[in-house]
Amino acid sequence: MFKTIEWTPEGVRMIDQTRLPLEEVYVTCRTYSEVAEAIRSMVIRGAPAIGVAAAMGIALGIQHSAARSEPALREDFDRIASVISATRPTAVNLFWAVKRMKGVLEEVLAEKCGGDKKLRRARERLVEEAQSILAEDVAINREIGRRGAALLPDGSTVLTHCNAGALATGGYGTALGVIRSAAEQGKAIRVFADETRPFLQGARLTAWELAQDGIPVTLITDSMAGYFMKERRLQAVIVGADRIAANGDVANKIGTYSVAVLARENGIPFYVAAPLSTIDLSLASGEEIPVEERSSREVTYLAGRSIAPVGVEALHPAFDVTPHRYVASIITERGVAREPYEVSLRGLCGS
Ligand code: MRU
Repeated sequence: MFKTIEWTPEGVRMIDQTRLPLEEVYVTCRTYSEVAEAIRSMVIRGAPAIGVAAAMGIALGIQHSAARSEPALREDFDRIASVISATRPTAVNLFWAVKRMKGVLEEVLAEKCGGDKKLRRARERLVEEAQSILAEDVAINREIGRRGAALLPDGSTVLTHCNAGALATGGYGTALGVIRSAAEQGKAIRVFADETRPFLQGARLTAWELAQDGIPVTLITDSMAGYFMKERRLQAVIVGADRIAANGDVANKIGTYSVAVLARENGIPFYVAAPLSTIDLSLASGEEIPVEERSSREVTYLAGRSIAPVGVEALHPAFDVTPHRYVASIITERGVAREPYEVSLRGLCGS
């Protein structure tokens, strides 16, 4: 199976998701600025994968830093972290990873040994930590999958939006991890994948990834979801998340909100699968989640060709927020949260 992202002696290697499914090409980022650009341009995307990339970008930057003193190393860390933090605002996993890496740096700098030895240790520990974040993410996704699989009945057809699979994570996936796990248990699961305009993560990535795994997948345009729900062709919806507020409001790829409302109207459960690192207890509700505004060119152009009148105004909010009342449950690695989310999510996060 492909590797979404990995640490190599040459740098951070990732599959270029802008070129899938036509070409399976890997790029190696040799500097932290290249990692930042890969996140910004969606060579790598998906909340947990962005978190891993951010951690590896920092590790790479610090490895190349010429700092010879603790204050200089801290200064370099903060500069690198601010470049990486400015790439994409919605997925909280990015900021979670930066904070975790900063914690490791401070831990090492607080150690008793001194001088060059300490700086060398800081560089090594940050590389190790970034690799641990990747390995943990895969294990977490397997656990999410195991816990969520029980929610999908044998023989069901499940709708997903965007790509919350191996490509969006360190591996295995969150929403697609639940589907994978159900399939591994021997359940016959069919997936309907929304194409997910305008960046087409569903058509380009989810359909490709599931086909690689031999899981039956049917591609539909976003506007067909309501039709198939009304026709009783779908038994569940499962999506990932970019940030979940303390009250259970869920930010995810633009179009998710419409799917959740349609699911409610048609009596179909709408599930969210996400690691605890996607939960942001500092935000009381989804209204506080920053929604990334991407270039309108991603709306007016398709595969490099203009599909709209030249100069037409277009908008591109890349995410929307689904109010918690539409969410049947949130599947995490530590358990399945249900209403009231203020209580259940805090319980799972252990605070
Ligand atoms: O803009 P993207 O492709 O990074 O958006 C990705 C999503 O919205 C995913 O559904 C989300 O990050 C969950 S990934 C496990």
